[in-house]
Amino acid sequence: MGGAPHPLQQWLIEGTDGRRCDITVGRGIAGHEALVPANRSRIAVLAQPPLAGLAQGIAAAMRQAGAVDAELRVLPDGDEAKELAIVGETYRWLNEIGFTRDGLIVAIGGGALTDLAGFVAATYLRGVEVVYLPTTLLGAVDAAIGGKTGINVDGKNLAGVFRHPSRIVIDLNLLDALPEKLLREGAAETVKAGFIADEQIVAAYEGDGIDAALDDVVPAAIDVKVTTVREDFRESGRRAILNYGHTIGHAVEIAAGIPHGEAVAIGMVAAGRVSAEVLGFRGSSRQRAVLERIGLPTTAPAVNADRVMDLIERDKKRDRSGLRMVLLRDFGEPVVQHVSPGSVDLGLREIGIVPS
Ligand code: GLY
Repeated sequence: MGGAPHPLQQWLIEGTDGRRCDITVGRGIAGHEALVPANRSRIAVLAQPPLAGLAQGIAAAMRQAGAVDAELRVLPDGDEAKELAIVGETYRWLNEIGFTRDGLIVAIGGGALTDLAGFVAATYLRGVEVVYLPTTLLGAVDAAIGGKTGINVDGKNLAGVFRHPSRIVIDLNLLDALPEKLLREGAAETVKAGFIADEQIVAAYEGDGIDAALDDVVPAAIDVKVTTVREDFRESGRRAILNYGHTIGHAVEIAAGIPHGEAVAIGMVAAGRVSAEVLGFRGSSRQRAVLERIGLPTTAPAVNADRVMDLIERDKKRDRSGLRMVLLRDFGEPVVQHVSPGSVDLGLREIGIVPS
């Protein structure tokens, strides 16, 4: 499959702020031609360490293509980039290289890098253009798409804005080359799109596990995300369905210090149990089997149950009437629903957490 030509797939998405974003999925398209719109003469490339070589190559190609002054800055890996101090350092670097309002920021990396770059672009000089080249599966199907930017200020993503980049280029050849651990991480969000809206994604993972064809599942998951974000850019309602598995998953992620994708898989098992209790969902066993087939965890590691409960209590979907979770009536039928403490308790027990 790797490297074979594949027809480009494209989407256009527009925010309520009128900003338009082109999303392109293809193979062998991670070059400056796809990333940089014509008439840009100053480019600031932001990348994370594993991608520094790729970013250097792209920056060099931009310079060779002429008319382009491309500078590269390598930022810390993962969430270490999403800190106020790094935002400040990046602003100062942009000052130093003489970045101007007609310049372009090119972000090459995973979800943390595109979150940070989107935030810097939204705020530097009161807003400059940015394009993303997501290099992880999780970034390609979730973090990069939909215009959420953010940095961590004590809590995760506590400062940020909704703002689309002008372009997102997803090169499946780059994703093919990912280590299996990162593919599994991203598969959690990809199959989540399947559970909430596209059973064909579920079937693809059911059949082939982690080897499910990226040419099929990536565009399908992007389609789910684009459709949802088009309906509700600023998450005032429907967009919350993208958080399936995240209420309990996020709490386990923080309390146990495990990667996001693994936590979402565990959270979906818990949410499946709550869905069975509250809505009569009959797909819990199938859901668990698909996650196991991918090689994702379906029970939580040893963790402080009180801390998990405390974090769940603070979930941002809570309102004055209590905790709300995304549940499934069936595959493809997500519902955002108030849940009782007793139902949450059942969900936690399903993943091996026994509340005191
Ligand atoms: N990752 C969930 C969202 O973009 O809304």
